[in-house]
Amino acid sequence: MPPGVVVRNLHKSFYDRKRGRIHAVNGISFEAQPGEIFALLGPNGAGKTTTLRILATVLRPDEGSVEIQGVDALRSPEQARRLLGYHPGDAGVYHRLTPREMVQIFGRLRGLDAPTLRRRTQEVFERLGLEDIAHRPMGKLSTGQRQKAAVARLWVMDPPVWILDEPALGLDLPTTRVVEDTLLEARNRGRTVILSTHIMEQAEYLADRIGVIHHGKIVALDTMENLRRRTGKQRLREVFLALLDLEAAA
Ligand SMILES: Nc1ncnc2c1ncn2[C@@H]1O[C@H](COP(=O)(O)OP(=O)(O)OP(=O)(O)O)[C@@H](O)[C@H]1O
Ligand SMILES: [Mg+2]
Repeated sequence: MPPGVVVRNLHKSFYDRKRGRIHAVNGISFEAQPGEIFALLGPNGAGKTTTLRILATVLRPDEGSVEIQGVDALRSPEQARRLLGYHPGDAGVYHRLTPREMVQIFGRLRGLDAPTLRRRTQEVFERLGLEDIAHRPMGKLSTGQRQKAAVARLWVMDPPVWILDEPALGLDLPTTRVVEDTLLEARNRGRTVILSTHIMEQAEYLADRIGVIHHGKIVALDTMENLRRRTGKQRLREVFLALLDLEAAA
């Protein structure tokens, strides 16, 4: 079986009139396997969203390569897109559609047949507690409800590769737990799950391996246990800060 995702030497710069050239992603490489949750952990502006957008074929890198289950995502973006699902944080939902309509439309685009789509939608909405809001326009939902609807979309599609940008942004604790358990279950069903977070506790709860990203570079890539060992710290926030310091000293 090919690895879920292989990322090699990604670079992406932006030009900003005030700030000049911003090297948002500066040589990022990693791999994630089927049955693994890989978390990109880093402070604001580290390059997490930019990296995930490149993986999801929304953005083209200046340099580097991305393979999604053996498919070259830069050469064959459409083929790659069929293998992945992207949850772009709080954006990416259509305010006039209801959660149910959104999931139906995406499911059909993905080629799910009508009975399967109906059955899966019902199952997933039940599991996520979305029945009450299934027929309300997304524009009238709370942030958390919209986030859940976006996760439902991914779950119903159930692609081999799940890419999620801060999936728990703005969610309360019970909702966060539902979303996290969804991701753990996807991992257990052999999906490759890549997510971003700046919450150390979430990375610890979810991730099999963590890539700590800072200034567009991966400064550490390991299991939480090994990151603790490497920094000699126990408390998660101390581990995180120590890793950023190591990078500054390098
Ligand atoms: N379209 C853009 N134009 C100009 N600069 C951009 C653009 N997108 C991102 N950047 C810059 O690239 C850098 C990385 O941004 P990115 O959104 O990838 O960070 P992030 O790790 O997702 O941060 P956060 O935790 O705040 O979401 C930042 O300095 C950001 O301002
Ligand atoms: Mg971001």
